[in-house]
Amino acid sequence: MDVSKACESRFSCRKYTGEDVGNGLIEQCLECARLAPSALNKQPWKFYVTRGDLKAKIAKETQMFGANGFTDQAPVLVVVTVKPKLADKMADKIKHQDFSSIDLGIAVQSFCLKAADLGLGTCIIGWVNCKNVDKLLPLSLGEKTKLVISLGYPACEQPPRRRKSMEETAVYLS
Ligand SMILES: Cc1cc2nc3c(=O)[nH]c(=O)nc-3n(C[C@H](O)[C@H](O)[C@H](O)COP(=O)(O)O)c2cc1C
Repeated sequence: MDVSKACESRFSCRKYTGEDVGNGLIEQCLECARLAPSALNKQPWKFYVTRGDLKAKIAKETQMFGANGFTDQAPVLVVVTVKPKLADKMADKIKHQDFSSIDLGIAVQSFCLKAADLGLGTCIIGWVNCKNVDKLLPLSLGEKTKLVISLGYPACEQPPRRRKSMEETAVYLS
């Protein structure tokens, strides 16, 4: 699948068949995430692939304000953590930019695009009780949960895209 096709076919999948996804496929998604660019090449992310009882506990921590009930159905939840290095923190202070969150977003998108390429469904989940998820994982000092990605075989069609127009989102200048 070419890049345009992957961008077009990725969507937030909120209904899954429940069939497990093999680690071989997940590894291909993780490899695309691993290749993502990052500020100062710090690669401040880590992806935790969870199934079974641990996944069920993490699912509960994504179900805030009645949202994200579909995480019970997804066979795999991938928790993405960030551990900013000192250089990142200094760059953030000087540039007033949260580089590690930008880095993580790029890696997560690479993961999701490869999943789409493989016919898998994903949803990036930001409404997460991150502090509680931290307690469920073997994190190192300074490492924090940022996002969860649900992963599985889609049990729904891709809905129509709702996007701003090209004119609203891009400007050519010279
Ligand atoms: C940082 C981030 C956090 C998100 N959090 C959630 C979430 O908690 N629950 C959810 O159902 N979708 C979540 N989404 C998915 C967005 O709602 C979705 O990407 C957007 O509506 C566009 O739809 P599409 O992904 O199908 O193109 C999140 C997306 C991003 C990038």
